[in-house]
Amino acid sequence: MPKVLVTGGLGYIGSHTVVELLEQGFEVSIIDDLSNSSLDILDRIESITEIRPAFDEIDLKDKAKVLAFFKSNNDLTGVIHFAASKAVGESVDKPLHYYENNINTLIHILNALKNCRQQNFIFSSSCTVYGQADTLPISETAPVKAAESPYGNTKQVGEEILKDLSQIDENFKTILLRYFNPIGAHKSAKIGELPIGVPQNLVPFITQTAIGIRDQLSVFGNDYPTPDGTCIRDYIHVVDLAKAHVVALNRLLNKANNSNYEIFNLGTGKGSSVLEVVKSFERVSGQSLNYRIAPRRQGDIISAYADTTKANNELGWRAKYSLDDALKSAWLWEQEIRKNS
Ligand code: UD1
Repeated sequence: MPKVLVTGGLGYIGSHTVVELLEQGFEVSIIDDLSNSSLDILDRIESITEIRPAFDEIDLKDKAKVLAFFKSNNDLTGVIHFAASKAVGESVDKPLHYYENNINTLIHILNALKNCRQQNFIFSSSCTVYGQADTLPISETAPVKAAESPYGNTKQVGEEILKDLSQIDENFKTILLRYFNPIGAHKSAKIGELPIGVPQNLVPFITQTAIGIRDQLSVFGNDYPTPDGTCIRDYIHVVDLAKAHVVALNRLLNKANNSNYEIFNLGTGKGSSVLEVVKSFERVSGQSLNYRIAPRRQGDIISAYADTTKANNELGWRAKYSLDDALKSAWLWEQEIRKNS
C-alpha cells in the first residue's frame, strides 16, 4: 500500500482527508503538534475507518526531528501538507509567529523530503491569494493580489517556494490546491471543525448560535454590491475537499500530470451570500437563527467563487454535496459535540 504522510492530519481538513485516504487503501502516517487539535481525533478516525494510522507528535519547526522522521520513513510515496496556522487576525498581531510556523516548517519538510525516492507534495493553499478578483468566477489564471495579511502572505510565499523548487528539481512534483470556503463535517458526526474560542468563520458561528453558545450572529454588512447586499463565498463540503486530495495524490502517483507544478481551485463553482447560508441553515436544521445586520468586517472581500473547469476536466473531480448537505452535516456535528458538555 502506498504510504502517505499527512501533516496536520488531526486538524479539520486533515482528519477528513486521512479518513478518505484510509478508505481508499493508503497507508497513512500523521504528524501533528496538537496545537489546534487533540489526540482524541486519532481515536475518532479509527472508529470511522477501523484503522489506526501511525502518529508522531512533532513540531515541524524542529528541523532535526523533521529530518529524522523522513530518514526513517524514506519509503513515503507522498506528502499532504496541511499543518499551518490559519487565523487571519492573529497573523496580523503575530507576523513572525506566522512566518515561522508556516514558512520555516515548509522549508524543513522540503529539505527533508530529499531523503525520499518519491517526492510528491500536495500543498494547502487558499483562494485568499486572489484577493478581490477582477472577474468571477475565479480561474487559476487570475492574478495573485497583494496579500491582505501575514497569513495570506504565507500562502503566497509557500506557493512561490514550491514553484522555485519545481523549476530546478524535476524529481519534485507538486500540486497546489486553492481551497475556497470549507464547511461541514463527516457524515458519522465523529469528526468536524473544532474552533478554539469564538469562531471567526461563518458556519461554526451559525451552529454555535443555534445551539445556544452564542447569543446572536452578526451578519457583517448588507450594503455590498451583491443581490441581497451580503458577501458571497463558495462554500465547499469538507468531504468533497478531502476527496480532491486523494485524486490529486493519485495524479502524482500515476504521473498523470504533464507538469511537475500544478494549481487547482477547489470549490463548488456556486457563490452563496451570507443570508443564503443563514436561510439554508434554517431550512435544514428547522431552527430559526437569531441574527442581526452589523457593520462590515474590515478586510472582507465582496465576492469570491471558483471557476472549477480545470479541476473538473484535468483532475476529474467535482464537488458533489450541496450547501444544504454541508450545513446539515455541520449542524449534526455541532449537536454531537455538545451532547456530553
Ligand atoms: C476567511 C479568511 C480567509 C480564509 C477563509 C477560510 C478573513 C478576512 N479571511 O475568509 O483568509 O482563507 O476564512 O477559512 O478572515 N461572516 C459574518 N458573520 C460572522 C462571520 C462571517 O457575516 O460572524 C461573513 C463574512 O463577512 C464573509 C462570510 O461570512 O462574508 C464568510 O466569512 P468567513 O467564514 O470568515 O470566511 P472568509 O471571509 O471567506
